Amino acid sequence: MDLTYAEYKSYWINSMKDAIQHANQCIKSLKGVVTAFNTNIDAVKNLREGDVERLLAKLGISLEGETEVEEISEVEHLLRGLLKAIRTGNGFELSISKPEISTWILTNIRADEVRIGGQAGISANVLATLGVERVYVHVASIPRIQAELFKDQGIFIPCKKNDAVLAVPPLEAYNDQHEPMIHWVFEFHEGYTVKLNGSYIQAPKSDRFIASYDPLNSSLYIDPIFREFMRDKAINIDKALISGFQLLKPRYPDGSTFKDKVLRTRRVVEEWKSINPSMWIHLEQAYMTNTEILRFAVEELSKTIDSYGLNEVELDVLVKAMKLTGEVEEVNLIDKLILVSRTLKLKCLVLHTRDFAIALTKGDVDLKCTRRALWFGSMLAATRTLTGCETTMSEVVEMLRERTLPVSLESYKYHMQLSNVLNVDARRALREGFEHQGYNIVLVPALSNPKPVRSVGLGDTFTSGFLVCTPLASPR
Ligand code: GLC
Repeated sequence: MDLTYAEYKSYWINSMKDAIQHANQCIKSLKGVVTAFNTNIDAVKNLREGDVERLLAKLGISLEGETEVEEISEVEHLLRGLLKAIRTGNGFELSISKPEISTWILTNIRADEVRIGGQAGISANVLATLGVERVYVHVASIPRIQAELFKDQGIFIPCKKNDAVLAVPPLEAYNDQHEPMIHWVFEFHEGYTVKLNGSYIQAPKSDRFIASYDPLNSSLYIDPIFREFMRDKAINIDKALISGFQLLKPRYPDGSTFKDKVLRTRRVVEEWKSINPSMWIHLEQAYMTNTEILRFAVEELSKTIDSYGLNEVELDVLVKAMKLTGEVEEVNLIDKLILVSRTLKLKCLVLHTRDFAIALTKGDVDLKCTRRALWFGSMLAATRTLTGCETTMSEVVEMLRERTLPVSLESYKYHMQLSNVLNVDARRALREGFEHQGYNIVLVPALSNPKPVRSVGLGDTFTSGFLVCTPLASPR
């Protein structure tokens, strides 16, 4: 007998308490978490009807025809990128290559708010709000305006005070000589419409487009004080999230290339692992346009990490970058994940989408723990879709009690489809997951919210929730 949506839903609702208890225990037992390397300021613009048309009119351009843009070196590229994101409903990020463009945006667009940005920055605030007592965040620059965006409890920044390396709260670490790294985040809602050359472009889903001018993070700068701090304290760090490779450039004015930056990062992360082999290291991919850089970065870094995370748009870019197949579209989701896991020899690959999350694990990774970790990550991200901000554990519990958001129907459909294709009993798969080609596959639903208050940071929130719940790494 087939599993009904009602049964599927109640299975997940009944497992909420267990996942929350597990997360609470994990949070209490954590000695310290690191989030590195990219922290920046997000200037968020919530797009309203007419905004894009006004910008086009100001520039006097009509944007005839579609051209692929890899980098923003003209203001026109900004609009092209933005329109592509709106048309597809899939968010992505492009780097701004010239400071004048950043200045143009600053003079012509008023941000609705500024928030902490970057995988490292966002996750630090998410974890601290959840109650993690010691989150050490890497910052490439820390002007006061950025320091003020961090939570005032639980976050520490290693810096030098009287010749000693100390981790201090952000407001004791700021330096106004530092340049702010500003990323422009354009948020649009499902149904957002732009009138262009007599026709209409409408967003099929809510998402965001990011244009970032960030010379420091784009060279994957690693603060030597942070490195020194970790040499001393890595033993007290249980989990680390690393990210920021998406901002890398092919080459730099001093003659170095992305390869130098990736290899330096790899050495740093290996150093942490050699001091503390049980530190669980999660690498979050984020959206990248340069497939050569992506390929090099994942091939080098996958050797040192415990888990790798990405969303469905990033997965397609990765499959293409790794030349895993010529016809990406024809390969189904699970096959893509298996191809990636196998090629990179990953022990845990995590895909997060707006309808579900999947982990593919190998070997001794605890399945029960993986399921709880994914489910907690989903609940945490869902709560944020309602508030637009980082949420406390009590807010998560409250949201779940009120049952504001439904268990994704798409996730149920995918669960049934997978059960059929893999010839597994759908009920058993709920409890035990799926097994396929030597991998354990755990699929958990999202709690759907087609109109999140803000899209930026949802993936990072999921990942932070997942990361707190993973076990400690087993030494290799
Ligand atoms: C990328 C962007 C950053 C944004 C983050 C959200 O790191 O550079 O601006 O805050 O993604 O996930």
